[in-house]
Amino acid sequence: MEETAAAAAVPVAQRSSRKGRSIRLESLGGSSEDAPRIAAGIPEFDRVTGGGFVRGSVLLLGGDPGIGKSTLLIEVAAKLAMNGSRVIYVSGEEAIGQVRMRAERLKLSQAPVELAAETNIEDIISTLSSGEPPALVVIDSIQTMWTETVDSAPGTVTQVRGAAQALLRFAKKSGTAVVLVGHVTKDGQIAGPRVVEHMVDAVLSFEGEGSQQFRILRGLKNRFGPTDEIGVFEMTGSGLSEVQNPSALFLSDRDLGSPGTAVFAGMEGTRPLLVEIQALVAPTALGTPRRAVVGADSSRLSMILAVLEARCGVRLSGHDVYLNVAGGLRIVEPAADLAIAAALVSSLSGAALPQDAVYFGEVSLTGAVRAVPQTPARLKEAVKLGFTRAMLPEGGRGDHVEAVSLAPIAALDRLVADIAASSKRGLRAAAGRDSE
Ligand code: TYD
Ligand code: MG
Repeated sequence: MEETAAAAAVPVAQRSSRKGRSIRLESLGGSSEDAPRIAAGIPEFDRVTGGGFVRGSVLLLGGDPGIGKSTLLIEVAAKLAMNGSRVIYVSGEEAIGQVRMRAERLKLSQAPVELAAETNIEDIISTLSSGEPPALVVIDSIQTMWTETVDSAPGTVTQVRGAAQALLRFAKKSGTAVVLVGHVTKDGQIAGPRVVEHMVDAVLSFEGEGSQQFRILRGLKNRFGPTDEIGVFEMTGSGLSEVQNPSALFLSDRDLGSPGTAVFAGMEGTRPLLVEIQALVAPTALGTPRRAVVGADSSRLSMILAVLEARCGVRLSGHDVYLNVAGGLRIVEPAADLAIAAALVSSLSGAALPQDAVYFGEVSLTGAVRAVPQTPARLKEAVKLGFTRAMLPEGGRGDHVEAVSLAPIAALDRLVADIAASSKRGLRAAAGRDSE
């Protein structure tokens, strides 16, 4: 049991006595005096925010602890400061010495970033309000901040919300861009940064598999830009470095010639991205076969399995199915269906897919392969990485790009038949149908 003080009630008579004052209404057109955006000067970062920080906006950067949020933001802060903007970095988690140590390691000690180790929001805001308003303020992290206006312990929902609200008011009033760091925990979301998601202008998430070097910055919400762009970084011994050609990275250690892998020519926002899709199909030892997916949607996999079974006669109900997207990327595009199906059938039949081919196309419940947008961009990226063939929907036939031969596929059973024909084992034998 916890004792709580009731809020002082305002008498009803007093409340209703105030007459509303009239607000000036503005037009949609018209200009603001300042350049509305401040580019960070790190292209992979600016791509995700939609061209830089918007003045007076609040951005939340979420991610697992230890993923590299502080590293990314100190790099952004240093870059802006070196370009002449006033930047303040407030750490509630680390002491000044620790922040300095990281900066030294990143070779950024010379950047004129103003540092503070503080957790009291009133003190922080009064410091920020004195002098020239900063262009950027980083609050690392929102979970460590507390405000005197709220009567509960730091880290609780009320405190996180109260602190965020105070910073939001400061941002709108001063025109400073504020970045809040928020740790996302796998469980125990109670005081997680999700409680402020609705207040802030943009939510970015920094993702990656802890064991891998790649880090992906993804927009989840953005009032001033797109949310489908990603930024790709690599964590190195001396900080995060940008990956300008992610396709080359994601395909760097392909298992050439082994069955069960297909290269998907995907799009992330405006940028084409090639990734390897890996599937493993093996007879199950259990009554209910396993379906495990990393990096893709599991209901999408179930749908493709059902279509393969119902429309193409590929029986997988006696097999465990594992699906993995290489490099720690998460794919949301339905265009990956064809590549997923190809990888599955290839694994089942033991026939490796052609090494120089990319796959893309959406599979419908009828087994038809549907057209997807941005075919030329996908094909050009494939050419750039040395691919010479593309298996794509019929609708993509017209988008001819030099140096790729197109193999339009109208229906999924065509693809299955082609792969089965190249298999020594044969699909039916592999699927356990040889007794029929
Ligand atoms: P950090 O930015 O502190 O993560 P967060 O703020 O999201 O909790 O990064 C922590 C990890 O990054 C740490 O485990 C080590 C790694 N790292 C490097 O590999 N190289 C570096 O130069 C730095 C600064 C960190
Ligand atoms: Mg940190």
